[in-house]
Amino acid sequence: MGSEHPLERNLALELVRVTEAAALHAARWMGRGDKEAADQAAVDAMRNALRFVDMDGVVVIGEGEKDQAPMLYIGERVGTGRPPKVDVAVDPIDGTNLTAKGLPNAITVVALAERGSMYFQPHVYYADKIAVGPQAKGAIDINAPVKDNLIRIARFMDRNVEDLTVVVLDRPRHEDLIREIRCAGARIKLITDGDVAGAIMAAMPGDTGVDVLMGIGGTPEAVLAACALKCLGGEMQCKLYPRNDEEREKSIAAGNTDLDRVLTLDDLVASDDVFFAATGITNGEFLRGVRYSGDFAQTYSIMMRSRSGTMRRFETNHHIGLKRNLPSGAAYVPD
Ligand code: FBP
Repeated sequence: MGSEHPLERNLALELVRVTEAAALHAARWMGRGDKEAADQAAVDAMRNALRFVDMDGVVVIGEGEKDQAPMLYIGERVGTGRPPKVDVAVDPIDGTNLTAKGLPNAITVVALAERGSMYFQPHVYYADKIAVGPQAKGAIDINAPVKDNLIRIARFMDRNVEDLTVVVLDRPRHEDLIREIRCAGARIKLITDGDVAGAIMAAMPGDTGVDVLMGIGGTPEAVLAACALKCLGGEMQCKLYPRNDEEREKSIAAGNTDLDRVLTLDDLVASDDVFFAATGITNGEFLRGVRYSGDFAQTYSIMMRSRSGTMRRFETNHHIGLKRNLPSGAAYVPD
C-alpha cells in the first residue's frame, strides 16, 4: 500500500525505548497480586514515552474505547505529530495475571505500520488462531483438521509430528483442541496467559522449544502477533470467534458480515512496512524479565522490522537514579 511519507527510519529502534519504559514500571508490580496497578504503571509509562517518538500515530489496537480507557484508547493520537503517518498497536502488558503472580513470559509490546493497514475490529474480542515460523510457511489451513495441519507443518519442517510442540492457552474452551493435538501425537505446552509471546516463540529463529501456536485468544493480540510474524517471515491465520449473538450482531452491523472469513497475515496487517518491539517484564523463554539493583536496572528486548527482516536483541542498562533527576517529571523520559 502507498504512503505519503515512506518509513525510511527504523522506528523499531525508537519503539524499544517505549517498551523499556513500560517494562521498567510494570515489573515493579511483579508478584504483588495487583494486575490493575501493574497495567496502569505500564500504560502511564508507555504513553509518556510515546510522546517522544517522531511519528503521527493513531492507536488502532489499544486499551479499549475512549470512555472506558483514559489512556492509549483506540483513536488516540500518539507521537510528536510529525510524519510518518502510522497505525499503532499497543499492549502495555501481555500477561497482566502473569505479572501479578510473577509467572513467566509477561511482555510489553508496541507495533507500528503504515496508516490504515492494521485490522480494526472492536466488536469480537476473540479469534481462533494458528501461527508458525518461516519453515512452515504455506503449511497451515485454519479450516483443516488439527491433525492435517500438524502433518503438513511437520513435513514442511522436515520433522515428525511427534517432534512438534504446540503452544495452547490453558482454557476449558480448548478441551477438544488439546485432545486432537494429543491424538495426532504432537507435544503441548500449555500457557496460562500470553499468546502474543506464544506466537512469537513459534516463529522465532533458534530453539524456543515451540513450533506452532493454536487456539482462541484475544483479537487485538492477533494483530500484534501478526506484526511480529510479518517481521519474522512466519505465517498466521485467524477466524473471529464471537462469544455470543450480541458480538455477532454488532460485528455484522459494522459491516463485517462474513464471520467465517479466514484472516491471513496480510488481512491482519496490510503493509510490508511493519515495526515491532517487545521488552520482557517477567522472565521468559525468549526474553528475560527486568532486573533491579539499587539505582540501576536491566531490560531485555527484541525489535524487528519487516522490510529489512532485521531482528535485534537488546540488553539495556538503565541508570534509574539519573533519570529521576531529569527535568519535567522525567522518570518516564526514555533515553
Ligand atoms: P491480558 O494480559 O491483557 O489479560 O491478556 C492476556 C491473554 O492471555 C492474552 O495473551 C490472550 O490473547 C488473552 O488473554 C486470552 O483471553 P482469556 O484470558 O479471556 O482467555
